Amino acid sequence: MTARRTRLAILISGRGSNMAALIYASRAEDCPYEPVLVTGNKPNAAGLALAEAEGVTTAKLDGKAKDFWEKLDETLRAHKVEMIALAGFMRIIPDDFISRWDGRIVNIHPSLLPKYKGVGTHQAALDAGDAVTGATVHMVIPELDSGEVLGQVEVAIMPGDSADSLAERVLIAEHQLYPRVLSDYLGRALDPDWISEEVGRRALALPETMYKTSHGAPAWRVGSPSSGKFFAIMWMRHHGEESVGLLVKCSGQEEMAQLIEADGDLYFRPQYYGPSNWIGIRLDRPDTDWDHVHQWLQRSWLECAPARLAKLHKVAAEF
Ligand code: GRF
Repeated sequence: MTARRTRLAILISGRGSNMAALIYASRAEDCPYEPVLVTGNKPNAAGLALAEAEGVTTAKLDGKAKDFWEKLDETLRAHKVEMIALAGFMRIIPDDFISRWDGRIVNIHPSLLPKYKGVGTHQAALDAGDAVTGATVHMVIPELDSGEVLGQVEVAIMPGDSADSLAERVLIAEHQLYPRVLSDYLGRALDPDWISEEVGRRALALPETMYKTSHGAPAWRVGSPSSGKFFAIMWMRHHGEESVGLLVKCSGQEEMAQLIEADGDLYFRPQYYGPSNWIGIRLDRPDTDWDHVHQWLQRSWLECAPARLAKLHKVAAEF
């Protein structure tokens, strides 16, 4: 089963060799992302011409314009971008932009983070007399070069290395690391088996729960083996439709309509479930908020748990 591909934007400021590596890797059939846009803050960046030659849509934005970040945000949304890869993008990103794309921006940095944040990494490694340096792919958070590390590769420092010779070798390593780490990260997030395991781990951590399939789909029940009730059901590519989600119980049709109205990309009304209280939460997104999923599982558990269990839970919650 091939999962759908995450729509990726690549942001550059210069030659875009990491961008090229990401594009070429995406030619593989099983690559979990698709570069749908290359843009950045320099309308003349060499990488833009290369992206165009490779048939990837580009947007030439003026990084000096006052409304640059607004325009960038609009452009990304117009192309339905789901994930952003920074590849030699030389602008500090404002906090409000990062929070709008929270959990959906990755970067490659030419050092073994947390060592040597910012610029001048190769000279810093040489000055420190390090035996190895390398490259890091990490999530982007407001604090510079400090988000969760997704993957690293080491590069040996050789006698006689200069900052330039080292940069050249580290770049070779970067080109291999970036597509691999991004693919692993996105592939996992969109893999139905991985998603289902994540849900299962959380569902089974709740009291008196058990696994049982429902019409062939992985599902979880609460209560005794004979009279337990389903409180969570995986929704997997129902009737050929490409989607992975989780069905949980909400309070009723009114709440369901409100949630879908408020966030129609996340919530859906499961087909074939009639006027039941099952609401669908999409899980095949690169930025699934698992704490949020967890809260829904707890809520649904409470809704379906036998009175004696639910009562205990409520008493415990009061302390
Ligand atoms: C790379 O060394 C990358 O690690 C850093 O900026 C450089 C960009 O090079 N963030 P390129 O434009 O990808 O060729």
